[in-house]
Amino acid sequence: MKVAALLLCVAGLTAATETLTSWKLFKARYGRQYESLVEENYRYGIFKKNEERVNNHNLKHERGEVTFTMAMNQFGDMTNEEFNTKMKGYQRQPHLEHVSVLAAGEYLPRTTDLDWREKGAVTPVKNQLQCGSCWAFSTTGSLEGQHFIKKGKLVSLSEQQLVDCSGDYGNFGCGGGNMDSAFQYIKDNKGIDTECSYSYEAKNGHCRFNKTSVAATVTGYVNLEQDNETALLIAVSEVGPISVAIDASHPSFQLCVL
Ligand SMILES: *[C@@H]1O[C@H](CO)[C@@H](O)[C@H](O)[C@H]1NC(C)=O
Ligand SMILES: *[C@@H]1O[C@H](CO)[C@@H](O)[C@H](O)[C@H]1NC(C)=O
Repeated sequence: MKVAALLLCVAGLTAATETLTSWKLFKARYGRQYESLVEENYRYGIFKKNEERVNNHNLKHERGEVTFTMAMNQFGDMTNEEFNTKMKGYQRQPHLEHVSVLAAGEYLPRTTDLDWREKGAVTPVKNQLQCGSCWAFSTTGSLEGQHFIKKGKLVSLSEQQLVDCSGDYGNFGCGGGNMDSAFQYIKDNKGIDTECSYSYEAKNGHCRFNKTSVAATVTGYVNLEQDNETALLIAVSEVGPISVAIDASHPSFQLCVL
């Protein structure tokens, strides 16, 4: 009896120490400094819960119960609610007209192994930081792909221009927006600047568009039918990288390998 109790106690201590160590590592790695001890304790509590969530999920992965792994990252001391408030920015538009991409009688192309990254049509992963500008990154991502396919050159395009300049189209910078409005803005504006001439700041600013730095423009865009993955498959295979909006509110989007 005594031995068993002692072992349990030691095991408990080890787990607590491990979390404390990983907390120290987390704070060092992401340069965290909290205003008060109260705040630090609060953040530590969130971190512990997140770490537990990641560990439990990865155990499930080892048992073959889920198909992907989760990981601790810089969002480890945020609640999922905070993460969603700070990071999510897609604003859905109510009545989008959609087009059908497959005419009657056509059949599906074989697309199972298409990867536009391998074809050089996708720029490296960008970081939107703490700004609800996902819509701007989605816009540049698909436009970079189209520009590459048309012109054979991969050029990174300016999200900051979209954040700063497309307000009249119903976008709210770091407060959210949508890709349709951004495409329409670029079309009317006759261009979008390069990333390096108008680089990302993760905050709202005044418009500094400079037409001498235009790298690409938009001639048109369409919406695919909602919830139709076949339509998406065909569009990705025949058109190129496509802008999508997905619900990223699940914690697995917060705590993943970055
Ligand atoms: C999905 O889109 C494809 C291609 O446009 C179309 O053929 C198919 O009928 C659509 N599926 C549904 C369920 O509407
Ligand atoms: C636009 O860019 C050009 C070339 O870099 C520069 O000469 C010009 O001053 C810029 N215009 C504005 C309004 O900033």
